[in-house]
Amino acid sequence: MTSSAFPPAIDFSAIPRAQLPLLLARMPKAELHLHIEGSLEPELIFKLAQRNGLTLAYPSVAALRAAYAFTDLQSFLDIYYAGASVLWKEEDFFDMAWAYFERAHADGVVHAELFFDPQTHTERGVPFEVVIRGLHRACTQAQAQLGLSAALILCFLRHLSEDEAFKTLEEALPHRALFIGVGLDSSERGHPPEKFARVFARARELGLHAVAHAGEEGPPAYVWSALDVLHAERIDHGVRSVEDPTLMQRLAVERVPLTVCPLSNLKLRVVHDLADHPLPQLLEAGLVATINADDPAYFGGYILKNFEATFAALPQLGPQEAYQLARNSFEASFVAEDQKQRWLAALDAVFAAAAQGGAI
Ligand code: HPA
Ligand code: ZN
Repeated sequence: MTSSAFPPAIDFSAIPRAQLPLLLARMPKAELHLHIEGSLEPELIFKLAQRNGLTLAYPSVAALRAAYAFTDLQSFLDIYYAGASVLWKEEDFFDMAWAYFERAHADGVVHAELFFDPQTHTERGVPFEVVIRGLHRACTQAQAQLGLSAALILCFLRHLSEDEAFKTLEEALPHRALFIGVGLDSSERGHPPEKFARVFARARELGLHAVAHAGEEGPPAYVWSALDVLHAERIDHGVRSVEDPTLMQRLAVERVPLTVCPLSNLKLRVVHDLADHPLPQLLEAGLVATINADDPAYFGGYILKNFEATFAALPQLGPQEAYQLARNSFEASFVAEDQKQRWLAALDAVFAAAAQGGAI
């Protein structure tokens, strides 16, 4: 991981707050918490349903969108899994991921590490290789056509058993070169990280990176066990860590990144108002916090909208915090050090130009 030190040349106090919208849009950034199935827009759900000869339970795009009124994580997951059921062919997975990459590119994303949920598809009879081939082809095209580097992280559904997770890892092994790590998502409460200790140990033996959702709805104890039992290198969400000062200190000292998703937290009622979001506390405590979209088609916006809404709601966040969040996203990514340094240099150039009153 890179050092968190700011380059001394940037005078953040010289950047007017009015520059913030342009900076948020233009600064290069990495997206590290994005469920590709959560990028499936209602319009594409309808298009894929038609292409695959399926009838949806909703009569129109508007009716489907109107159903996106969530009260908690489970009420979202129920509709998210239903939406993903229109995905059957390699082309469907490609189209979904390509639509995401075009939007991410427009938002200034230069690197994305995407979660995918193979069990959502294999349980319905879609072969694993259909899923990963479609996603991988979109990743290759994103690099070639958009200059956006992309990698895949296979998530285990925590409401299913560890045996089922093992079976999924087994199915994935012939395609080991096409994904960089494993993650843990779906219903958090009642499904602690410990449940997946052995499958994560096996994944780490295989040289895969390990990340896990923890401390979204679940308690800080789940963040501790994601670190100590799963040896997660990043915590997805992790916002409930603010309830535990000892945990906060550990996350800061060990520089364990948190992939925070503000609009998701708002829509799933993890926070009741963005003005109450703990992101400023996380940054103040020196944590490697990042901003991400989670499931943008369901939560009202992609990564830039997450940045814009968060900065609009929290006036204590300014250009220096924007810089820190973008910097953290590269530090927290699983890319080679020399590539990180190139992106960090590009980031520095944007803020140095803004501080000198130049064009960005
Ligand atoms: N939490 C847990 N599981 C998920 C999420 C989330 O925010 N999004 C998609 N699967
Ligand atoms: Zn998530």
